[in-house]
Amino acid sequence: MTSETTGLIRESAVKLPEGEVRIYGPAAPEEICSYEMDDTLDCFRHPAKQKKALKEIASLPKGQVFIACFENVIVGYVTFHPPEPFERWSEGNIPSLLELGAIEVSRRYRGFGLARKLMEVAFMNDAMEDYIVIATEYYWHWDLEGTGLPIWEYRKLLESVMSSVGMEPKETTDPEINSHPANVLMVRIGKNVSRRDIEAFEALCCRREDEEFSYFDNV
Ligand SMILES: CC(C)(COP(=O)(O)OP(=O)(O)OC[C@H]1O[C@@H](n2cnc3c(N)ncnc32)[C@H](O)[C@@H]1OP(=O)(O)O)[C@@H](O)C(=O)NCCC(=O)NCCS
Repeated sequence: MTSETTGLIRESAVKLPEGEVRIYGPAAPEEICSYEMDDTLDCFRHPAKQKKALKEIASLPKGQVFIACFENVIVGYVTFHPPEPFERWSEGNIPSLLELGAIEVSRRYRGFGLARKLMEVAFMNDAMEDYIVIATEYYWHWDLEGTGLPIWEYRKLLESVMSSVGMEPKETTDPEINSHPANVLMVRIGKNVSRRDIEAFEALCCRREDEEFSYFDNV
């Protein structure tokens, strides 16, 4: 296992009429390889490509992938990784910043509480208290068609899933977030995050577009 945030494997289950869905993680890259992907896990990319992406994230030093499995098929996942270099959130390399990259549940397994359970399991470990966890929610990534939900209902659904582990909407000057009122930055600041990192993160959230951000200018 490569993750620095692992500690023990965390695990739970959701009972469905056809059997039990096992939810656990952080999953090792080779474990992810050993499963099939449900063919409706295609919200972000083709399931085969998404499986490759999950394996890559699980291999990163701070990467974590939690999976929901029915028999030998992955039917849901949530990922965490350091912010991508092209994003505002990587500026200054704030050491405790971790991004919830994606959460997805296959279309035929939605509405059974799998997303909530994935979040619950991911945050079971106290190691998550060392992190500022962010999620950049852009409405153009949402499966409005598949769920049949209007945009603001969908936003409510996501807020409900994320707030179940203490993530809250946070204001930011980030132009991509602010390009649509339904987009939202969700944030959870762990109990053990240093004041220095919190102040740097606050400054990053509200930095002006024409401003250079440096971690050391803000601590
Ligand atoms: C968002 C998503 C992960 C939710 O997964 P899920 O397993 O169906 O969610 P849950 O069953 O845990 O339900 C969470 C809440 O949403 C509600 N909900 C789920 N689907 C719903 C629907 N179609 N209509 C109304 N409410 C719905 C549940 O009732 C539950 O409400 P509660 O928190 O008040 O109890 C899933 O719809 C999905 O994969 N969407 C595509 C990917 C995506 O948009 N990801 C988020 C951006 S990264």
